[in-house]
Amino acid sequence: MALSNPKLAMDSTDRKTHILFVCLGNIIRSPLAARLFEHAAKEAGVREKYEVDAAGTANYHVGQTPDERMVRTAARRGFDYTHRGRQVKVKDLDDFDLIIPMDLENMGDLRMLGKGQQHLAKLHLMREFDPEADGAVAVPDPWHDGPRGFENVYDIIERSVRGLLRSLEAGELKAGAQNQV
Ligand code: 4NP
Repeated sequence: MALSNPKLAMDSTDRKTHILFVCLGNIIRSPLAARLFEHAAKEAGVREKYEVDAAGTANYHVGQTPDERMVRTAARRGFDYTHRGRQVKVKDLDDFDLIIPMDLENMGDLRMLGKGQQHLAKLHLMREFDPEADGAVAVPDPWHDGPRGFENVYDIIERSVRGLLRSLEAGELKAGAQNQV
């Protein structure tokens, strides 16, 4: 594993890579990203190497299960998942090796929450890992969108988490290389 300090604040026997996906409400984009990453890692036979969670920068939906519109979108693809909404906290920036915000607003909020370079170096936008990003930097917030918007976000997240897993497994991702793959 190329991460400079993959254990960080974790127990010394814990050599897993800890990844936190972050969006605004923690009911649409980041829970799907977390569960799809776990699914991709399981398919690749490397599930035990990763601890994955999701959180929101806002506290609007703490304790809630994922938005039904995305749950239905996923179900149409044969993917069932769940999560309980929670808000990101400073300790997450200590505890996780990688923090993956969905858009620039999430990135800005995490930068403000962070306490220095060791935190900032963990931040990578989700679409850095999307092979079809074509210059796009954000996983768009589909809150005001219809079903097609949710389908589009699902596709972006599915591609991006697979790209992230590929980068990790290839040893390309270094915690000190901020915002670069
Ligand atoms: P998420 O989407 O950040 O992907 O979970 C949203 C969830 C809730 C709201 C906006 C976006 N909201 O305005 O409550």
